[in-house]
Amino acid sequence: MKVIGVIPGKKESAHIIDVDKPEISSSEVRVKVLRVGICGTDHEIDQGLYGEAPEGEDFLILGHESLGIVEETGRDVKGFEKGDMVVSTVRRPCPENCLNCRSGENDMCLTGNFKERGIKSLHGFMAEYYKEIPEYLVKIPEELSDVGVLLEPLSIVEKAIMQTFKIQERMKWKPKTALVLGAGPIGLLATFVLRDMGINTYTLALDSIDSKKARLVMESGASYIDSTKEPIPELGEKLGNIDFILEATGSSTVSFQAMDILGINGVLALTGITGGDKKLEVDADRLNLSLVLGNKLIFGSVNANITYFRKGVKHMQNFEVKWPGLLSKLISRKVVFEDFKEALLRKKDDIKVIIEIGK
Ligand code: BGC
Repeated sequence: MKVIGVIPGKKESAHIIDVDKPEISSSEVRVKVLRVGICGTDHEIDQGLYGEAPEGEDFLILGHESLGIVEETGRDVKGFEKGDMVVSTVRRPCPENCLNCRSGENDMCLTGNFKERGIKSLHGFMAEYYKEIPEYLVKIPEELSDVGVLLEPLSIVEKAIMQTFKIQERMKWKPKTALVLGAGPIGLLATFVLRDMGINTYTLALDSIDSKKARLVMESGASYIDSTKEPIPELGEKLGNIDFILEATGSSTVSFQAMDILGINGVLALTGITGGDKKLEVDADRLNLSLVLGNKLIFGSVNANITYFRKGVKHMQNFEVKWPGLLSKLISRKVVFEDFKEALLRKKDDIKVIIEIGK
């Protein structure tokens, strides 16, 4: 079968490789891949900045955002059958099987020796087929076949938001105003989840008010802010007490600006992965004082375990009822398998680019 692999550490090394179709054991499932999504992490891996091949191999099959169809199940597999549409989670437990990994929360792995499909020490889903054990597979209802490939990025948002609500059990908390920084897939998906929860949401990005991203934000009932016209430091006054901020621009400068406008008892969730080594001068005394006196909380969030994928399926179903067709508009470009290099190029107006693999 054909797969798209990279040589980790080597710039723009993605190429098509012929490998054997995976054989399954009695406890595994073989999945035929329909499509995969491309995200910033895939770009970084293709640029040679990130990514590790499985032990003993010199290439890594890319891809961690997928949608596929069960092609065959091992005889001991329960709960899945041929024809089921599925998405696989990304992270797998560390060899030490730390407290969190053995408790089903490998997204909170303590050792850092976890593996991630398509990213770190495990092959991904840019392949005609992959195999997996059922505990990492999530069933996707038929009506979500066009958008199911967005479940992995949505799981990242689900984790950040569900954890925020858990953390805020420290008091009675009824968030009224949320600010989402960034209108890429994570920012837009966060906007939809917050709107689905009935929270007054503002989403900010660099694009103009008549851009496609702004339209998608507004279609969900959120307000769009063009940050070239209304810079972040001015928003504290304009929006009143900001209860929740989700940072999804991938800029550490923006993260620090966000700390400064967070409201009383507010939470700032950081999801952007910033690979550089930027230094900033910060207004340390004032920032510290406002965080302490305002009971404010800042936390980072990465990856997601299967609980968040399952929550994401429910939200996708809600989105389709509330705003039919809106979610599918996030898929801005579809590329066929042979043109994968096109998919790995960043183009203006891209939101989510996907590679069509099977039917
Ligand atoms: C993926 C996460 C992963 C992270 C770090 C992100 O793009 O969505 O699942 O944990 O990269 O490797």
